[in-house]
Amino acid sequence: MSTPPFFEAPARAEAAEAAADAYRDAFGETPEGVWSAPGRVNLIGEHVDYTGGLCLPLALPHRTFVALSPRHDDVVRVRSAQEAGADWEGSLAGVGPGSPDGWAAYVAGVPWAMGSGHGFDAVVDGHVPLGSGLSSSAALECAVAIALADLDDLPTDDAGRAELAGACVQAENVVAGANTGGMDQAASLRCREGQAILLDTRDDSVTHLPLDLAGAGLALLVVDTRAAHSHSGGEYGARRADVERAARVLGVPDLRAVAADGLEDALARLAGEEGAQVLQRRVRHAVTEIDRVARTAQLLRAGRVREIGALMDASHESLRHDYEVSARELDLVVDTARAAGALGARMTGGGFGGSAIALVERDAVPEVAAAVRDAFAREELRAPQFLAALPSEGAGRDA
Ligand code: GLA
Repeated sequence: MSTPPFFEAPARAEAAEAAADAYRDAFGETPEGVWSAPGRVNLIGEHVDYTGGLCLPLALPHRTFVALSPRHDDVVRVRSAQEAGADWEGSLAGVGPGSPDGWAAYVAGVPWAMGSGHGFDAVVDGHVPLGSGLSSSAALECAVAIALADLDDLPTDDAGRAELAGACVQAENVVAGANTGGMDQAASLRCREGQAILLDTRDDSVTHLPLDLAGAGLALLVVDTRAAHSHSGGEYGARRADVERAARVLGVPDLRAVAADGLEDALARLAGEEGAQVLQRRVRHAVTEIDRVARTAQLLRAGRVREIGALMDASHESLRHDYEVSARELDLVVDTARAAGALGARMTGGGFGGSAIALVERDAVPEVAAAVRDAFAREELRAPQFLAALPSEGAGRDA
């Protein structure tokens, strides 16, 4: 059995130096500094961050770097180290709802949302796989946000980071036009090495929970299915509209307000509504998922990380059948990883493609990855990409 190669994150210092070099090539001078922010996986708590729920993300070692210098005017000039010709240049005065479009929205939208008074020159160098459901867009927003906060002497303690996360969400919702919740930005800015965050999206409070996978002899395998997904696409918005309608019918501010033991009653009250069965399934997912996050957090607090597998499995089934956001490729990863001995597996992120995670005995990682690779080959699917999710540090300055 050969082991599939892993997509490793480059060493942080070297990646920062490469970003600074790319800046020198682009603008002919040394940047004021280099900052970076990570992508994330969500351990559990999916599609509940826009209904007041709980989620449990951790930052990946894979980061997006931004080499940047402030300007005295309100011009933003940005280049991508990945994509020659993807340069964008514009004035902050022209940034607003829907403008600019494309990837520049995730850069220029941030100073707009932060109310920043000056422009900047920047080169972006990303090591979070794009379009993989691992939050490359949040990593980009958050790297820009931490750079501007640092340069403008804004607080970067946890409360300051919560503010910055809010600005990044604004940039994504209003400028990029993707109506996502706040999990990805909170993870990218507020996570710490060796820990996951329990994010309560009702008040954006965060509790840092230990996630000592290696100490337990475990690993969290990430499988990027490389099946395309898109958040601004209609399905994400449709799910959000479903849960908002359900909350209105039930007379609650969000589905967090429905306790697990009140679920049957809530489902009964939806019975007469148009499309009741779909609405009931959506509500069942949200309510049971929030409960699963609380139970996962309890296990992590008790140092019982080995026991979270069953909750991950149940989360996936709920996303697959009740919330209907999985995809053939994601189900194949989950089913194959479980059959090959994973303790638990589930899709992570928005779904419809993107990535899945599997909790695996560390020694069994090559075997599980090979089983998934072979299953994809048998089904004549594009080869997936493998990453290791080591709980990593949130956004910060590199140079
Ligand atoms: C995407 C969104 C998040 C969250 C997840 C699903 O990653 O950006 O806000 O809704 O999907 O949990």
